[in-house]
Amino acid sequence: MDKATPQRHDVATEILTHLLKNPNDFVSGNELGKSIGISRVSVWNALKSLSENGFKFQAIKNKGYRLESEPTHVNIHLLKAYMAEFKTSIPITVLEEIDSTNSEAQRQLASKDSPSLAVIALRQTKGRGRHGRTWHSQSSGNLYISFGFRPTFRSELLSSFTPYMAVHLCHMLNTEFNIPVFVKWPNDLILADKKVSGMLAEARIDIDHIYDLIFGIGLNITPPQEWPSEIKDKAIALGQKTKAPLSINKIAAAILKTGCAGFSNFTKQNSSQEFLQLWEKYDFLKDKNVQAYEGNDVTAGIARGISTDATLRLELPDGTIKKLVAGEVSLSKPIK
Ligand code: BTN
Repeated sequence: MDKATPQRHDVATEILTHLLKNPNDFVSGNELGKSIGISRVSVWNALKSLSENGFKFQAIKNKGYRLESEPTHVNIHLLKAYMAEFKTSIPITVLEEIDSTNSEAQRQLASKDSPSLAVIALRQTKGRGRHGRTWHSQSSGNLYISFGFRPTFRSELLSSFTPYMAVHLCHMLNTEFNIPVFVKWPNDLILADKKVSGMLAEARIDIDHIYDLIFGIGLNITPPQEWPSEIKDKAIALGQKTKAPLSINKIAAAILKTGCAGFSNFTKQNSSQEFLQLWEKYDFLKDKNVQAYEGNDVTAGIARGISTDATLRLELPDGTIKKLVAGEVSLSKPIK
């Protein structure tokens, strides 16, 4: 079954789907009830329950209802309504709290048959980042999303998967939400020179087979009252740089759509030129002096974009190019 299509009795999703289709108009309770096949009283009850969960509706006698404002956290009904609008149909679970959405996606992939799935949590108690770091995940106004995929591509391609997904998510935030984010190799998103999003891909592989691939995204939307001290100078939230209120549910649905399309296109491996062009457009490190860390090795150079295999092209002081497969890069002072 298509999970994004409102199910027969998911009245709340059906009502929200109607209201999203008519954002500036009032839709009467009668019309809503008729199109869903329920009474006006049931419509009213559903709207009341949504109002208790952070939605605001404008109601005018003899005209009907209009969605005035959305909750600042992920709501399964609104998320599904946006997914229906975006024609996205990945099976989705939304949880109040979980250890890590990456762990949960892994568990679900192991116990279910579905070819792919996604998990969102309002909070994570053990959110993890790259290189064994913690991903602070207390607030429910941010996005913690993981996809579970069953790839058919070769394991050598795994290292280019996260940069590929990162640049497409970056493009989506720029074009669909008008947010000027950049991509920093290998897979961070940067806003106003600070990190707004990180991604973590985890796979179970053997020599010639990828069993499963979990791709997790953390995206800061609402700034906390106080950032944890170790990231306070480096982290930012989308809400700090946008004037109009952001719809966290619409962004989540757009991430689900972009993630599904990205996985499918990456599997087909027919868009390497487009990948390079997008990277060039959004490359935060382009022509900057950087320090590249690979384990204990540190190399200074100038970042000169990436190759089709997503390796970072680092120009060394002698003019040669060193290609980095994995690692961490930070901006440095110009090399004298
Ligand atoms: C990084 O270090 O930049 C990667 C951070 C990845 C965080 C996300 S939040 C959703 C998913 N679940 C996790 O435990 N981690 C990823």
